Amino acid sequence: MPSLAPRIETVPASGIRRVFEQAAVLQQDGTDVAMLVIGEPDVPVAPHIGEAARRAWSEDRTDYTPNGGIAPLREAIREKLRRENRIEVDVEQIWMTIGATQALFQAMTLVLSPGDEVLVPDPGYTTFTMNAHIIGATPVPYQLSPAHGFEPDLQALEASITERTRAIVVNSPSNPLGSVFGEQTLRDLLALAKRHDLWVISDEVYEYFTYGTRHVSLASLDEDDRVFTAFSLSKTYAMTGVRVGYLVTPKGLGPVMRTTQEAMISCVAEPDQWAALAAIVGDHSAVQDAREHYRANLGIAKEVLDAAGIRYLDPRGAFYLWVDVSHVSQGDVAEWALGFLHRERVAVAPGSAFGRTGEGWIRVCLAATPADLRRGLGALPAPARATV
Ligand SMILES: Cc1ncc(COP(=O)(O)O)c(C=O)c1O
Repeated sequence: MPSLAPRIETVPASGIRRVFEQAAVLQQDGTDVAMLVIGEPDVPVAPHIGEAARRAWSEDRTDYTPNGGIAPLREAIREKLRRENRIEVDVEQIWMTIGATQALFQAMTLVLSPGDEVLVPDPGYTTFTMNAHIIGATPVPYQLSPAHGFEPDLQALEASITERTRAIVVNSPSNPLGSVFGEQTLRDLLALAKRHDLWVISDEVYEYFTYGTRHVSLASLDEDDRVFTAFSLSKTYAMTGVRVGYLVTPKGLGPVMRTTQEAMISCVAEPDQWAALAAIVGDHSAVQDAREHYRANLGIAKEVLDAAGIRYLDPRGAFYLWVDVSHVSQGDVAEWALGFLHRERVAVAPGSAFGRTGEGWIRVCLAATPADLRRGLGALPAPARATV
């Protein structure tokens, strides 16, 4: 067999999959596993979305569409961006993609050349790093550590910029942290990007899930066309398997987007686009209900952890809880998470899967049943309490 392109060998394997796959094997054998490992909404898709998809199929709306997406969908998104995100764009800046996954890959492909550097959050969503490797670029982590309130240390971040740095990836609300960057932080990040003439790629797939704070879209603060934003319908409408998202680009990139989109995917499946339209313009009470469900689960999770004296980051967004298990993980949380799965039948994501800063932490998905959350978090070993 001929050899693969060497850069492909550098793409790191997902550290979450290992736990997930072993948990799935246990489940197949009839073991009751508390599944807190994958970022999958546990609520059903709203009926009107499924109906729109079924109607598209029955009316034979199964053709190629324009590369950017069907006109009414792009128009509806333009309205949504204006109303919810305070982003003013023309439809040529909106490109339907196969989830935010393709939007992110597309944006990174447009701005990165082999050998370039891209700043990625650590801990951060694994795809950012994987994409950089696939393109032949170097991901340079910037830390989101407890010492800085899980926000970027802008001085350290600026110090890691070199003449090869081309872009910075920002993800708020954050997976895995659940933190939501404040508006001032976003403004400072943009100012820094401007000083160094960097592109900014903003992942906002959890925009609808914030608790007691407001989500601010980076592109709403963008004054000189440097921000790409990846949005998704996956988490908002509990339709991860439908695979619809969209990329909002800076002005003037229509022609290049049309060409690259043509080569990459041509277009998103037409029935899925009609489903997406129904989701965006339709009743949002299911989104509201999902948010309340995650918020209620967060309350349960905090109660269990507080009672055990286990440290965690109180999330302001997404549906994850970032929990400190450094008192038991002995410097290898990936191994510890596997052991925990087999001992306690609880699947959690090891923090190290999201970058070095995640060592000693786990990510717990709150999109789960209250019973699984109580049992799963209740099985976490408590730190030794100081005696008086
Ligand atoms: C931060 C982040 N970005 C992007 C994605 C991918 O979303 P999509 O299903 O839209 O491809 C995920 C999924 O877990 C995510 O957590």
